Amino acid sequence: MTLHPDSLAVHAGREDLAALGVHAPPLDLSSTNPLPDIELGGLSYEVLATGGHPIDGGSHVYARLWNPTVARFEQALARLEHAEEAVAFSSGMAAVTAVILALAHESGRRHVVAVRPLYGGTDHLLASGLLGVETTFCRPDAVAAAIRDDTALVVVESPCNPTLELVDIPAVVRAAGAVPVLVDNTFATPVLQHPLDLGAALSLHSATKYLGGHGDVVGGVVACDARFAAALRRTRAITGAIMHPFAAYLLHRGLATLPVRMRAQQENARAVARWLAERPEVARVHFPGLPGCDPAGLIGTQQHGPGAMISIELAGGFEAASRLTTAVRLFTHAVSLGSVDSLIQHPAALTHRPVESAAKPSDALVRLSIGLEDRADLIADLGQALEATATTPAEDVRSGVEAGAA
Ligand SMILES: Cc1ncc(COP(=O)(O)O)c(C=O)c1O
Repeated sequence: MTLHPDSLAVHAGREDLAALGVHAPPLDLSSTNPLPDIELGGLSYEVLATGGHPIDGGSHVYARLWNPTVARFEQALARLEHAEEAVAFSSGMAAVTAVILALAHESGRRHVVAVRPLYGGTDHLLASGLLGVETTFCRPDAVAAAIRDDTALVVVESPCNPTLELVDIPAVVRAAGAVPVLVDNTFATPVLQHPLDLGAALSLHSATKYLGGHGDVVGGVVACDARFAAALRRTRAITGAIMHPFAAYLLHRGLATLPVRMRAQQENARAVARWLAERPEVARVHFPGLPGCDPAGLIGTQQHGPGAMISIELAGGFEAASRLTTAVRLFTHAVSLGSVDSLIQHPAALTHRPVESAAKPSDALVRLSIGLEDRADLIADLGQALEATATTPAEDVRSGVEAGAA
């Protein structure tokens, strides 16, 4: 039976629950597992440590190799991403690390092409050379020129963090030729975008964001074909970055409401972005749903909606941006995104702090993650904060907020 994506989000990874006689997925916290005998135990170890699936009559051996709760979440996420398999990690950065290590090892190549802008942590990891690969950073139209004989991987985000530019994924895939493309799908989620259908080899999430959706879990996951998944599981078993089962439990639960949350947060974001575009304190609004923000017309084709992230550049520059982050009351001043509550942060000072200055976001730019609050309340909060930033020196705004909170 072919299910609508909303139905799939609720039911994927739960197909066997009735036969188990339970309604909620079991949470298996075992760190080790009984072995039937030395031969089957040893064979199970061999298969799992090299990236395979559990063998009939065998054992899961050890939770760094395989965990059933993690596997359930992976199975559900793979279906939502239109992928054969998925592999879950302890964080989004652990997932990025594993992809680079696995693909460099498998191909024997030591060069990565990375399309900027990227999340600051990904940019930092690639620029650091820590993983023994050399990275060429480029804009989307320069991917073909950046590919070398020793290129193992192309990394791209769409929408980009934090400018919310949309990158034409099929065009990057064409430019990459035989080199596999990794798309960071964190901002769009499988509700809005399916990178594998667009030709990418791997779709990655910081599951910490929309997949979990409640700001209470850190995780990462990569959806891909069975061959890449085996290489990623092998890397995960060796390096030890498997997702914790409780994180997988929460993430699997989060998937059930992902389509509903995404659509509601997106509608809030549309209203907030339109309102911000009219404000004199705001020099520029970056939101793929506004006129002029999607010049290639990718909304409706590549991506089924603009999402729920907005970035704004303040007319008053860094000073105004700084004041805004402390003057808001309903928004929380914090990094991360994709939660049911709205967040605000300054990428140049925080999430993109390690990025080299030529590629750093503007000092006047503030990023908003729009949540599920009433949109009139969100607009009222931004309204009072923008007015405060236009008229009040930074210290006064801060003490005013503290007085209000007391
Ligand atoms: C687009 C994107 N990719 C990857 C990451 C890294 O994920 P994590 O923080 O779960 O390690 C982040 C974190 O903010 C992100 O925004």
